[in-house]
Amino acid sequence: MEYIQLKNSDLTVSRLCMGGCPMGGYGWGAVQENELIDAVHCALDSEINFFDTADTYGLGQSEITLGKALKGKRNKAVIASKFGVHAKKGTLTFYDNSPQWIRKSIDGTLQRLDTDYLDLYQIHYRDDKTPLSVVVDTLEDLKKQGKIRYYGLSNIHEKDVEEISKFKGQFVSFQDEYSLACRKNENDLIRLSDELSLTPMTWGSLGQGVLTGKYDKTNVNFGSNDRRSRDIYVNFHGDKLLKNLEIVEHMKVIANNHDKPVSAVAIRFILDYLPESVVLCGAKRPSQVSSNAEGCGWNLNEKEIKTLLSVSK
Ligand SMILES: NC(=O)c1ccc[n+]([C@@H]2O[C@H](COP(=O)([O-])OP(=O)(O)OC[C@H]3O[C@@H](n4cnc5c(N)ncnc54)[C@H](OP(=O)(O)O)[C@@H]3O)[C@@H](O)[C@H]2O)c1
Repeated sequence: MEYIQLKNSDLTVSRLCMGGCPMGGYGWGAVQENELIDAVHCALDSEINFFDTADTYGLGQSEITLGKALKGKRNKAVIASKFGVHAKKGTLTFYDNSPQWIRKSIDGTLQRLDTDYLDLYQIHYRDDKTPLSVVVDTLEDLKKQGKIRYYGLSNIHEKDVEEISKFKGQFVSFQDEYSLACRKNENDLIRLSDELSLTPMTWGSLGQGVLTGKYDKTNVNFGSNDRRSRDIYVNFHGDKLLKNLEIVEHMKVIANNHDKPVSAVAIRFILDYLPESVVLCGAKRPSQVSSNAEGCGWNLNEKEIKTLLSVSK
């Protein structure tokens, strides 16, 4: 495994982080709790120590399952969760960074994870009204109370940068979408990690699965409990899907040369091209975790990186 220290922190984490979105069991197709728990154990056995979840994933179910899987193993894991989406069954969902909501959220998160502290608490989305200084004051208070160790950001935009820069050195990380199928945030990931002193964490690193080599033009079918069936999940639709399948053909050649699975090439590209990053990958079962872990411990050569950059332009 490869490890990195998150900026402005003493958290040493595996550069491959197990993502907990599919663990919510909602919107990503069917999952089995026993397979998810085995997947977390497989991650630990593969020396992955970093786990990302959020209170909104399956309205708390992802945190519950992760907590069950880590029972008795808490000291082996660095756990990140997120707040800021005010979601309750049967009510309107909206972004909420108010101190009241943050305090309520952290208590729910700790209870569901069955732990008394969280290593990293991330603002999932900013709301339009709570000043960042108020959010930071609340997070600092949670730190003092021992409920969280560090805090981070996610899905930040250019308009937020000036405000965030006032707290440089306090936030440790930020998450954004990035993969060979989605390079639109590449410049921000590079620039903001430096300018704002934040460790970049890439989500959708496997293009929600399209970069694993298991799809062709004929087998992209998702059920109704799977948001990838919707057009906004562009990786699986129209010209974008065809382009992704073309990228995968080049990845297959590289994977073959290194005797690695295709998913490992998707991961290795990010690890090599963004050397300060952490790569988040969702997984539903142990076999997916172990093939993703094969993304670590080797390197792409310059020619391979050039090819991948050129075909994914
Ligand atoms: N900050 C944010 O706003 C944000 C947004 C999205 C995600 N995230 C985080 O980032 C993590 C990663 O993103 P993601 O889960 O959306 O997408 P992803 O990692 O690109 O794709 C995950 C999906 O790919 C498939 N898969 C994984 N490994 C595989 C393998 N080796 N072989 C074949 N298929 C494989 C699985 O789905 P199937 O088996 O169904 O194909 C899995 O659910 C999330 O879990 C979450 O923790 C954060």
